[in-house]
Amino acid sequence: MKLYLSLSLAFFSCIAAESAGSALYDAVIVGGGPAGLVLASRLSENPNFKVLLIENGPDTYINETVTTPRFAGQLQGTQFSWNFTSVPQATLNGAAPPLHQGNGLGGGTAINIMAYCRGSSSVFDEWANISGIDGLRWDNLVHYFEKSTNLFVPPDLDYDQVIDKTKFGNYHVDVGYESNSQRSIIDNSFVDTWISNGAEDADFSAGKGIGMLIGGPHSINHFNGTRSYALPAYGFQLAGRSNVELIRGRAIKVNFEGTKAIGVDYVHVSNNTTHTIRSNETIISAGAVNSPRLLLLSGVGPKTDLLSLGIPVVVDNPEVGLNFFDHHYIVMMFNATPNIITSTQLQDPTILAPFLAEYKENGTGPLSTTGSSSFFAERLSDEILDSFGVNVDFHKNLPKDRPHLLYQWSSTAMLPAPNSSNTISIHSALVQPETPGSIRLNSSDWRDDPLLYSNYFGSEGDFAIALYGYKRLISMMRSSTMQPVVVNEVYPGSNVTSDADITAAFMEAARSFHHPIGTNSLGKVLDQSFRVKGAQNLRVIDSSAIPRLPTCHLQSSVYAFAEFASTILKDELYEVSRSKDIR
Ligand SMILES: Cc1cc2nc3c(=O)[nH]c(=O)nc-3n(C[C@H](O)[C@H](O)[C@H](O)COP(=O)(O)OP(=O)(O)OC[C@H]3O[C@@H](n4cnc5c(N)ncnc54)[C@H](O)[C@@H]3O)c2cc1C
Ligand SMILES: *[C@@H]1O[C@H](CO)[C@@H](O)[C@H](O)[C@H]1NC(C)=O
Ligand SMILES: *[C@@H]1O[C@H](CO)[C@@H](O)[C@H](O)[C@H]1NC(C)=O
Ligand SMILES: *[C@@H]1O[C@H](CO)[C@@H](O)[C@H](O)[C@H]1NC(C)=O
Ligand SMILES: *[C@@H]1O[C@H](CO)[C@@H](O)[C@H](O)[C@H]1NC(C)=O
Ligand SMILES: *[C@@H]1O[C@H](CO)[C@@H](O)[C@H](O)[C@H]1NC(C)=O
Ligand SMILES: *[C@@H]1O[C@H](CO)[C@@H](O)[C@H](O)[C@H]1NC(C)=O
Ligand SMILES: *[C@@H]1O[C@H](CO)[C@@H](O)[C@H](O)[C@H]1NC(C)=O
Ligand SMILES: *[C@@H]1O[C@H](CO)[C@@H](O)[C@H](O)[C@H]1NC(C)=O
Ligand SMILES: *[C@@H]1O[C@H](CO)[C@@H](O)[C@H](O)[C@H]1NC(C)=O
Ligand SMILES: *[C@@H]1O[C@H](CO)[C@@H](O)[C@H](O)[C@H]1NC(C)=O
Ligand SMILES: *[C@@H]1O[C@H](CO)[C@@H](O)[C@H](O)[C@H]1NC(C)=O
Repeated sequence: MKLYLSLSLAFFSCIAAESAGSALYDAVIVGGGPAGLVLASRLSENPNFKVLLIENGPDTYINETVTTPRFAGQLQGTQFSWNFTSVPQATLNGAAPPLHQGNGLGGGTAINIMAYCRGSSSVFDEWANISGIDGLRWDNLVHYFEKSTNLFVPPDLDYDQVIDKTKFGNYHVDVGYESNSQRSIIDNSFVDTWISNGAEDADFSAGKGIGMLIGGPHSINHFNGTRSYALPAYGFQLAGRSNVELIRGRAIKVNFEGTKAIGVDYVHVSNNTTHTIRSNETIISAGAVNSPRLLLLSGVGPKTDLLSLGIPVVVDNPEVGLNFFDHHYIVMMFNATPNIITSTQLQDPTILAPFLAEYKENGTGPLSTTGSSSFFAERLSDEILDSFGVNVDFHKNLPKDRPHLLYQWSSTAMLPAPNSSNTISIHSALVQPETPGSIRLNSSDWRDDPLLYSNYFGSEGDFAIALYGYKRLISMMRSSTMQPVVVNEVYPGSNVTSDADITAAFMEAARSFHHPIGTNSLGKVLDQSFRVKGAQNLRVIDSSAIPRLPTCHLQSSVYAFAEFASTILKDELYEVSRSKDIR
C-alpha cells in the first residue's frame, strides 16, 4: 500500500510553503481509525476542501496477520497496538487488565475480532436524549448503519436466524454471515445450550439486543476471506484524491489563539522532531483513550487537574476524561475435543499448512473465520435482580429492550493455559454497566501513558450481575449439551464449585472487551455540533464522543456515528469553503 509514501511526499512539499498565520488545511483530522477515515472520506468529497489526516501507527493492509481473520488475536501488544494497561483496580482485588487500542491505519478495526452487531435500538434513542441531537435516534441513525455496510448471506445458510436485509446498504464495510461449512462444531453445542434454556434467535442489526445471534456476522469480505475494515472500506479511496494528505505522526498538542483551535503540533516518533500544522478546523478522532489524552495535554479539561500537572489551562471543560465506560467480561476456559480447531492447533505447522494453502488459493477454510461466532445476550428478570439483595435500581430501570449480560466463545486461550490443551474461552460480559471510570494524565509529558481508572464492576449492582453471569456461564458450560465438545475444564477448573472459590476465580479473570467510550461525551464535553464546549474550531468525533454503551460490539456504532457526524460537518464547514470559492 503506497498511501503513506505518495501522500506524505505531497505533504512535505507543502511544509516548505507554510507561511506564518495562514491555514494550510480546511480540516486536520487526528487519528486514522474508523471515525477518522469515515470523516476524511466524506469531508474530502468536495474537491475544494483540503483535508489532512494524521495517524500515529503504521500501514496495516500490507500485513497478513491483519488481513487474515483467524490471526486477529495475535495483534494485541504488537506494532498495531497502544499497549495500555489500567491502573490496578480495587474492585478487582488489585488486578490491572490491559486495554488494547488499535495503532495504525484502520485503528481498532485493523486489530479487532470483527464481530458485527448494533444492538438494542433504545441505546441510540438515549444518545439522542443525552445529546439533544434528534438525528441520533435509531429510526434515523439506522440509515447511517446502512450506508456504511454491505451484507452477504451465504447461499448454504440453513440455520434459524432472522436477518433483515433491508437494514444494510451496498458499500464500504462487508458484513458476512457464516455458511454452515464455516461454522465450528462447537458453535452448534454453544447455541443448543442456550436455545434449550429458552433463548431465541434475534437480529442484532435490526434494533434488537436480547437473544441469540447465530453465525456471526463478521466484518469479513466473503470474496477472498479478508478482514473488511476502515482502511479498505474508506481509506483506499483517499489515495485518489488530491485534496487529501496523510502523514504518519503523533499529534501531541492542539494549538490555540485564545480559545480558538488553529491546528496541531505533531512529532515524528522516530526522531523526536516536531512540526506545526495550521488548519481552520481541528477534528480529534484518536479513540476513547487518546482523544481525551490529547485534549488534556492541550490544556482542555478539568482546571484543577491541569493546574496540578503544570499544564496551562486553555478551556476549563470539567468532564474531559470522565464517563469512561467499557464492556468487560470474565473468562472461563476448557480443553476442547481435537476436531475443534483452536489457536493452539494452528501453532503446529503441519496442521496449519493445508489451511494456509486453502486460504491462499480460495479464501476459505478456518483461516477465513475469526474462530468465534454466535453469542447470546439476556436480560435478567426483576426477580433475579432483586434476589441479589443490593441496589439494582439502575439495571431494573434500563429500557426493556436492553440485555444485562452477553455470553460468547472464542477458540483461543484468553488466560494463561497449558500449552498442551486445545483451549477454548467462553466469557460472560456486563453489557450495560452503571459505573463509569475515568482517564487522566500521569504527567504533562506526551510520552507518558495515561492513567486508566477502569472501575470495572464498580457498584454493588454491577458486581452482583457480573458475578451472577459468570456463575451462570459456568453452569451452562458444565451442562450436558456441551459435553460433545468438552474434554476438561481448564479455568476455573471443575473442582471450583463453591461461591467463594468462583468469586476468587472471577476476580482473576476479568478482561476488557476493548470497547471504551464516553470520555469526551456528547452533552457533557461536546455540544450538538460535536464541538468542544468553550473552544472554537475544535471537534471530537469518535468513540470518545459516544455517551452510552451499545448492548453489543462497538464498531458498527462508530462507523454510523461518524457517517452521521460527517453530514453535520459538511453543512457547517463547506459553508466556509464555498465562500472561499466565491472569493
Ligand atoms: C482488540 C480489540 C478488539 C475489538 N473487537 C471488536 C469486535 O469484535 N467487534 C466490534 O464491533 N468492535 C470491536 N472492537 C472495538 C472497535 O474496534 C472500536 O470501538 C473502534 O475501532 C473505535 O474507533 P475510533 O475511531 O473511535 O478509535 P480507534 O479505532 O482507536 O482509532 C483511533 C486512531 O487514532 C490514532 N491515534 C491515537 N492518538 C493519536 C495521536 N496522538 N496522533 C495521531 N494518531 C493518533 C490511533 O493510532 C488509531 O489509529 C475491538 C477493539 C479492539 C481494540
Ligand atoms: C480557512 O478559513 C479562511 C477564513 O474563512 C478561508 O479564507 C480559507 O479559505 C479557509 N481554508 C484554508 C485552507 O485556508
Ligand atoms: C505482521 O505483524 C506481525 C505482528 O506484529 C508480525 O509478527 C509480522 O512479522 C508482520 N509481518 C510483516 C510481513 O511485517
Ligand atoms: C506496543 O508494543 C509493541 C511491541 O513492543 C511496539 O512495537 C509498539 O510500538 C507499541 N505501541 C506503541 C503505540 O507504543
Ligand atoms: C428519551 O426521552 C423521552 C422524552 O423525555 C422519553 O420518553 C424516552 O423514554 C427517553 N428514551 C430513552 C431511551 O432514554
Ligand atoms: C479482497 O477482495 C477485495 C474486493 O472484494 C479487494 O479490494 C481486496 O484487495 C482483496 N484483498 C486481498 C488481500 O486480496
Ligand atoms: C525526522 O523524520 C521524518 C520522517 O521520517 C523526516 O521527514 C525528517 O526529515 C526527520 N528529521 C530529522 C531532523 O532527522
Ligand atoms: C526523544 O526525546 C526524549 C526527551 O527529550 C528522550 O527521552 C527520548 O529518548 C528521545 N527519543 C528518541 C527516539 O530520540
Ligand atoms: C480450492 O477450491 C477448489 C474448488 O472447490 C478445490 O478443488 C481446491 O482443492 C481448493 N484448494 C485448496 C488448496 O484447498
Ligand atoms: C509454552 O509455550 C511457550 C511459547 O511457545 C513457551 O515459552 C513455554 O516454555 C511453553 N511452556 C511449556 C510448559 O511447555
Ligand atoms: C506515573 O508516574 C509515576 C511517577 O513518574 C510512575 O512511577 C508510574 O509508573 C506512572 N504510571 C503509569 C501508569 O505510567
Ligand atoms: C483445583 O485443582 C487445582 C489443580 O489441582 C488446584 O491448583 C486448585 O487449588 C484447586 N482449587 C480448588 C478451589 O480446590
